[in-house]
Amino acid sequence: MRGFLRATVFLVAVCAVVAPVAASDYFPQSVASGDPTADSVVLWTRVVSPTDEDPVAVQLEVATDFDFTDVVTTRDLSAWAEHDYCVKVKVDGLQPYRTYYYRFSYGEEVSPIGRTKTAPTPDMNVPVRFAVVYCQDYVGRYYNAYEKLLLDHDEDIDFVVHLGDYVYETTGDPEFQDPTSERKMVFEDTEGAIQLGTEDNPNYAAASLANYRTLYRTYRSDEMLQQVHERWPMIAIWDDHEYSNDYWGATATYTNGREDEYNVPRKQNSERAFYEWVPIDAGLGEDGVLDIGADDLYPNSHIYRDLIYGSNLHLILPDLRTFRPDHLIPENAFPGEIAVDEETLAAMVGEGWPAVRGSFDPYVDMGVLGAALPILRQTATLIAANLYMMENSDLDLFSAVRLSEEAMSGNVSATFVNLLFTEAGLQAPFSDEMLAVLPRGISYLIMGKTAIYSSSGSRTQVIKDTFDLYAAARYLATGGAAQEVYGSVQNAWLQGTLLASPATWKVLGNSYMMTPSVIDFTNPLIAAMLPDEFPDFLRTKLIVNNEDFNGEPQKRQEMIGLLSLVDNAVVISGDIHAAFVTDHQNGVYELTPPAISSSTNGEIVQRAVASDPILGQIPGIDQILENYALLLQVSASSPAVSPSDILYANTYSHGYGIFDVDADAMHIEFEQIPSDEVGTSYYDDPEALNALFTSVAFTIENGVLSPSP
Ligand SMILES: [Fe+2]
Repeated sequence: MRGFLRATVFLVAVCAVVAPVAASDYFPQSVASGDPTADSVVLWTRVVSPTDEDPVAVQLEVATDFDFTDVVTTRDLSAWAEHDYCVKVKVDGLQPYRTYYYRFSYGEEVSPIGRTKTAPTPDMNVPVRFAVVYCQDYVGRYYNAYEKLLLDHDEDIDFVVHLGDYVYETTGDPEFQDPTSERKMVFEDTEGAIQLGTEDNPNYAAASLANYRTLYRTYRSDEMLQQVHERWPMIAIWDDHEYSNDYWGATATYTNGREDEYNVPRKQNSERAFYEWVPIDAGLGEDGVLDIGADDLYPNSHIYRDLIYGSNLHLILPDLRTFRPDHLIPENAFPGEIAVDEETLAAMVGEGWPAVRGSFDPYVDMGVLGAALPILRQTATLIAANLYMMENSDLDLFSAVRLSEEAMSGNVSATFVNLLFTEAGLQAPFSDEMLAVLPRGISYLIMGKTAIYSSSGSRTQVIKDTFDLYAAARYLATGGAAQEVYGSVQNAWLQGTLLASPATWKVLGNSYMMTPSVIDFTNPLIAAMLPDEFPDFLRTKLIVNNEDFNGEPQKRQEMIGLLSLVDNAVVISGDIHAAFVTDHQNGVYELTPPAISSSTNGEIVQRAVASDPILGQIPGIDQILENYALLLQVSASSPAVSPSDILYANTYSHGYGIFDVDADAMHIEFEQIPSDEVGTSYYDDPEALNALFTSVAFTIENGVLSPSP
């Protein structure tokens, strides 16, 4: 039983600098700016006073020159303990497309000088250059990528876009973090944190406001990240790790459905710290000063926004996490449950149904069957109750039986019931003859869900063909709501903003990807690589990461359709920790640069396979995985997988993207460093660092993307 139901944990998806003034003891995290408009910018610092005064009086000066001979604004501000002594203020009345310098002072103590730049007005036809970054895990990882950005682009980029995972909420998640490194995350408030791992070997996830503040304080101790903020305005959104891995709404996913992880206070704590620490134009009061109210916090969170940067760039930044529904396959879905019945499926497939019917799962109505054969139903219920208890040691017998009775009450896969019986050492109740006459549908089992409480078969490792049909059924049944990742209000805003934009380039910054993340083991080119020992149940189209738009396939097509109506619409994405260039057809392209530092998608998949009891044993699996990026590309190239093509993929690099736009073209460059360098600091050796970087470049012109020399 356990051997089968645990099945396989295949492919866990999941990805010489000029320092003007040294950061003083009084401003230990230096300064930052963000969200430039044509007449305003958000400025930030945090002050530490030697006394326990509250508030601490701070003065801001903004000048047009580094020497502050031409001061245009001064402002008296207060740093409050209530906001962790962060100071954030939106300064307006500035001139468009102009560089400004700013500094804060506390008595005689002066902060480092920050440099920032306002946006051009919407009618100014100027070229724009910006960097795109995301996913900067700190634990055991150095920001060499930021050092390279600082070395190469000090004077020539206008701003930095951050697509999320600015912090990671865990102190040492063994799936991707190494807590033994000297670069570690330590919570003082472990009482207020969520304990993960084991009693003997715990790690923690942030939960209290103090925990979330510790994350930002630690990340911002890094000198490279400080310099990035000192040098350029940042335009940031959150992805999942600013709150909790793979969350939706206010619900975390650590226990895979064993516990209800809906936690509004925790989500709000994460948001408070984000508003305090990130120079975003949100969490500000009428007077432009930090003031976080109920209208900023879940369920009213509002970080989605757009910025117009001259006539050539409109940057549109949605929030893909806060308003999304649950993953279509819940982590605690019972594998034997029928998610789509024959009637629904036959109507969707149409006249081709009889030809494909045999490939779906035969099922029985356990209510009807149980009335006729009560012993069969009782036995199945008891075996399933045992399974519930094996997978969740916190369940008592009573609760396990209740859950099992629920699972055995509707349409249930006869294949799964047979498996339950045979794994328990009993004879399978349904013969081949009986299976042949039963109705057929889609169970969670044939979408890849082999355990009750699992991310595998839910957020990762999902069988594409059956899942896409199920997703379509849910999309139709709910009028699209089951896949409305933006939420209806944000979606209306997003569509209206995209369609009405007059800018040359409309850049949609999705925190996670629309690119297909599929390995098609039935593709002849890939099948030819597989050893005989490769298990039959994996000879299918497997979605590696179902946590992004791969898990919302109809919404993805809806968005690509919308983007194809908009001239020069380009998607930039983060989250995946790998570099991709994707052609979604009809002039819609998606650029996903490599992540700054977080464990690459290639490494995560490699680790998951190596530790898997079945897959880890397959001879030659290492060579197959060395070609992981190619497998994704070859798979996507088949129309049976997706109309989208992956034109470039690198699953083992860190780095960033540089984007140039003007009235004619977009030029994109990915700067990349091999992922195995991330544990080494090159902060004192820029020459060695330079030698490790390579770049690839692309140009989009007249709706066509091509590689650049
Ligand atoms: Fe990430």
